[in-house]
Amino acid sequence: MRQILSDPAPVLDRLSATYGPICGLGVPGVRLAVIGGPAVLREMFSHPADSFRWGHRFNVVGVQFVVGKESMIVSDGEDHRRRRGSVQAAFTRRRLDQWVPMILERADVAINEVLSRRDLGDGPLDLAPVVRRLIIGVTVHAFFGERLAQRSDEIADLYERSQHFIEAPAVQQLPHPLPFTNRARVRRDLRAVNAIIDAEIADRRANPSGDPLDILEALVVDDTLSDSEIRAQVRTLIGAGYDTTAAALSWLLWCAALSPDVWQRLREEADAVLGGAGGSAGPVDPGALARLEHAQRTVRESLRLHPAGLIGARVAAREMELGGCRIRMGTLLVWSPHLAGRDPDHWVEPLRFDPDRFLDPAPEQKALSELAWIPFGRGPHMCIGFALAQMELALVIARMAQRLDLAPISDQVPHPVGMVVNRPTGGAPFWVTSRPVGIG
Ligand code: HEM
Repeated sequence: MRQILSDPAPVLDRLSATYGPICGLGVPGVRLAVIGGPAVLREMFSHPADSFRWGHRFNVVGVQFVVGKESMIVSDGEDHRRRRGSVQAAFTRRRLDQWVPMILERADVAINEVLSRRDLGDGPLDLAPVVRRLIIGVTVHAFFGERLAQRSDEIADLYERSQHFIEAPAVQQLPHPLPFTNRARVRRDLRAVNAIIDAEIADRRANPSGDPLDILEALVVDDTLSDSEIRAQVRTLIGAGYDTTAAALSWLLWCAALSPDVWQRLREEADAVLGGAGGSAGPVDPGALARLEHAQRTVRESLRLHPAGLIGARVAAREMELGGCRIRMGTLLVWSPHLAGRDPDHWVEPLRFDPDRFLDPAPEQKALSELAWIPFGRGPHMCIGFALAQMELALVIARMAQRLDLAPISDQVPHPVGMVVNRPTGGAPFWVTSRPVGIG
């Protein structure tokens, strides 16, 4: 139990190899069921929404404090449906498509900054902080527009402490009112984020722009949520969307850079679809994303092996049966996209990185893969940003392959670290050079 809460990957792998798709663990007062088998996961996700609650002693302490009591992540029942429904209505495909040029422009700015570094070539460069900055910029721009995106570094700093806070052991997250503590500093940062969002909400009320792409304005106009509920959803969307996608991008860089043929194919595809070999493309049409097929497969494969959350949690709100086991009410169900993505009965050579496994699979392999690929979860709490995240990842990796050569510092992907967000230990350090001019 201790290991699951500190370094989950190895213990999850051992539990699944020893006990199969579902197993129970317990200490007095806490019962856990660890679920990694894709068929049992499907069974779990197909139960009606009111069979589960989000909160348990374990996950209630820090998460609710950080996202706020009105966030959809920590809501159940009608509150969850209403809060999520309003945001979902704003996340239209049309809006997503219009963000394609913005994401590429921001990727170009990040790449230009990397290439202009004076210390480039002196040693490996950790790209993890570079992609974190890029993703927070994209996230803030997508939700609030360019004006606030200029403050995205400041916003990233305000999220930094709370992201560390929810990764800390549960005892360090226990509520207390003491000043000059980590919790007090997190509270101050959260208040500062709230103030920024409140000012934006007030601005949209006072001066509606009528911009059909403005997510925040859509939430304000929709009028289903109170201002404090809107603020909680926006704070959640930034928090849930930024750290996860940035971590997934670090893994993706590792996976793609360790497979030179994958990198080369990403590059050729990007040249053909985005135009301008080397990335000096003009305007890109929103339909370009659909044509980055190899990039999308590469993202899918990287998320299969390295989902941004190794585990997710639910509480059984009633007694039920899963995988032939009786689950008592109150049991904490720990479900694992990491285990499902590596299940040997669902994937051929599961540990091999092979984006082409998603290229024209046989019908029965396609059905097995759909069952076992769940980095974004399923059911009523499934990730609301799944399309945005995959779009960011595919566009950024395509652009990086188009403009950069990366030489990894090791021939193995690193060990994962992080309880809430799974990232590569040591970040994403590579020897980085500009793509040679005139060479494909
Ligand atoms: C690679 C990137 C990402 C991964 C792997 C990921 C994964 C997940 C997972 C596993 C869940 C929980 C599902 C469950 O408990 O059933 C979740 C929920 C959520 N995600 Fe993501 N996510 C990513 C990016 C994003 C982005 C870009 C956004 C928004 C901009 C976002 C917003 C959310 C929200 C709001 C929820 C809570 C949904 C609810 O409770 O109804 N995520 N995500």
